[in-house]
Amino acid sequence: MKRLGINIDHVATVRNARGSKHPDPLNIAKYVIGCGAHSITIHLREDRRHINDLDVVKICKNKNITTNLEISLNDEILKIALKNKPNFICIVPEKRNEVTTEGGLNLSKNFKKIKNTIAKFKKQKIRTSLFIDPNIKDVEIAKDLNTDCIELHTGKISELVKNKKNYAQELTKIKKCCKIAKKNNLEVHAGHGLDYKTTAILSKLKEIEEFNIGHFIIGESIVHGLKKTIKKFKEISKK
Ligand code: PXP
Repeated sequence: MKRLGINIDHVATVRNARGSKHPDPLNIAKYVIGCGAHSITIHLREDRRHINDLDVVKICKNKNITTNLEISLNDEILKIALKNKPNFICIVPEKRNEVTTEGGLNLSKNFKKIKNTIAKFKKQKIRTSLFIDPNIKDVEIAKDLNTDCIELHTGKISELVKNKKNYAQELTKIKKCCKIAKKNNLEVHAGHGLDYKTTAILSKLKEIEEFNIGHFIIGESIVHGLKKTIKKFKEISKK
């Protein structure tokens, strides 16, 4: 069975839309773990557009929540990550104007910095993952960087599946990366854009040990949670 990590950044997006405290990412983190998720993911972005510093402190402090902190290679963010000691760290690229993480890391360009960073996390016994595009060269570089895991960017295959286009070539690339990663003792994760269909397709790949899913799960939860919430409001307003 694959592990399921839930990205709860969009809970903070909704909270921030009103500058209020509701919904609270810490409460949601506890709740999703109670619902059976294996871990939660939060991305502390340089622009703090959703998760903020206090969310990181509160969530990482709660040892009942297995926390995967996504970060860029920004020095200030790296310091915060080391201070809060999450269970897992996933290093991702970050561009200021992107809507979401648009692609994998450029491992060759950032080789030295990533290698030093992973060494620091290892000293703190933090499991590190590198978010990469599904290409063989990056899997090989990831091994040289001494990372524990790689997370394959599944944005492209997810879009092809959603648009009912031929995804065979992209799936072959992912399969090849999985095989090479396993041969090199790298744990394989997958994430980005995943919905029911793409997750079902990728679940057949035995090398993938963890899925990290955010937007679709939060969207589906709104759809399925509305009925219960409306019912409750109707009961309250009857009185
Ligand atoms: N994994 C990584 C490394 C990500 O950056 C993201 C998006 O923040 C996700 C998984 C989740 O992607 P989505 O919200 O599209 O499910």
